[in-house]
Amino acid sequence: MKHLAVIPGDGIGKEVIEVGMDILDAISEVSSFNYDAELFDIGSERYLRTGELLTKDDIYDLEKKDAIYFGAIGDPRIKPGVLEQGILLSMRSQFDQYINMRPVTSWHPFVPLKKHFDFDICFLRENTEDFYMGAGGTFRKGRNASVDVKRRLYNLKMELHPKPSSDDEFAFEIGLLSRKGVERFADQAFRTAIKRNETKITLVDKANVCTHIYGMQRTIFEEKSKEYGIGLEFMYVDAMAMAMIVRPNTFGTVAVPNLFGDILTDLGAQLQGGLGMGASGNINPEGVSMFEPIHGSAPDIAGQGKANPIAAILAAKMMLDHLGYEDMGALIQNAVRKCLDNGKYTADMGGKLNTKEAGAEIKKELLRIR
Ligand code: NAD
Ligand code: IPM
Ligand code: MN
Repeated sequence: MKHLAVIPGDGIGKEVIEVGMDILDAISEVSSFNYDAELFDIGSERYLRTGELLTKDDIYDLEKKDAIYFGAIGDPRIKPGVLEQGILLSMRSQFDQYINMRPVTSWHPFVPLKKHFDFDICFLRENTEDFYMGAGGTFRKGRNASVDVKRRLYNLKMELHPKPSSDDEFAFEIGLLSRKGVERFADQAFRTAIKRNETKITLVDKANVCTHIYGMQRTIFEEKSKEYGIGLEFMYVDAMAMAMIVRPNTFGTVAVPNLFGDILTDLGAQLQGGLGMGASGNINPEGVSMFEPIHGSAPDIAGQGKANPIAAILAAKMMLDHLGYEDMGALIQNAVRKCLDNGKYTADMGGKLNTKEAGAEIKKELLRIR
């Protein structure tokens, strides 16, 4: 019996997770996969009601689960960053989910580049460091100049002289990498390449500009490359964005720091047919991992039944793979594939179905082909 936490969150997160749960139900009917699910009311509504983001109680309860199934957060009524940092990024760092695995593969015919290439890229996005640590602040801001160096910069306290004018205002955001953080990231990248029978990995960075953090990262990856006997190629992120379009077939395991990974994997989702197709796993190999579509709450289509549920369904597939039910993961992917082949999908892919109908078709297919 697996114990799942389910956090639908906001906007289309709620709509696609409802469908994803239906699919998990179907899987439990036809296989030995048994689960219970505890629903967590974490997101904008609770925040607006109570002011709570991710609470100590949430953390205590979530920590005990076998996995977390997450929809999306984000609400136009709330200042950018509040929910994102206070909920999603908090969970990733609380549970130390330091790998964000985002597959980009051409497994179905809706991949726009498919007539040119087949590709199977495994993006491993570092998920706890880089520009995502909240290390930043402003100074010379009016009369209340202050520096707010936040979470994780444990002992660093800065005092800057207040200036009465705001003309000289500065804001800064620091990208940090730790040796330990890069080492464990590199370990996972090289192990993934070995599992996938590959002879090299690609490390994406901007070491020609951010020489300190990405210079150290290169050095550590070179050390690990020797240790694992697996080749290493470097790509600058700008060139990588281009290469993903012109030669996606030449990449396998791709390690990418947090911020660039965020950007490249939305591009990766589009290579697979759109944001409604991209799934991800926030992995802590020794702890609780969290599975989610890579898209957000999509306020522009929320509440209209337009959301494509496939990204959330494929996130459920990744969760099953992670929990050791790869055969059931494969069953889900095959059912999705059949529905894509048969024209049964939502409008973002050119189809006619709404979110629930698209989910119901996948469920029907799954029960038929099992
Ligand atoms: P978004 O991913 O929500 O939407 C981008 C575009 O893609 C929109 O036009 C949307 O309609 C479309 N889209 C996304 N998912 C779709 C789906 N399943 N089916 C059909 N169309 C889909 O990104 P955004 O608009 O930049 O952000 C909206 C909010 O979501 C923001 O608050 C942002 O911070 C948040 N966000 C959260 C997550 C997350 O929870 N993991 C991820 C990204 C963005
Ligand atoms: C994602 C999202 C998040 C990120 C945001 C919402 C904090 O864009 O999961 O890709 O930047 O990681
Ligand atoms: Mn993103």
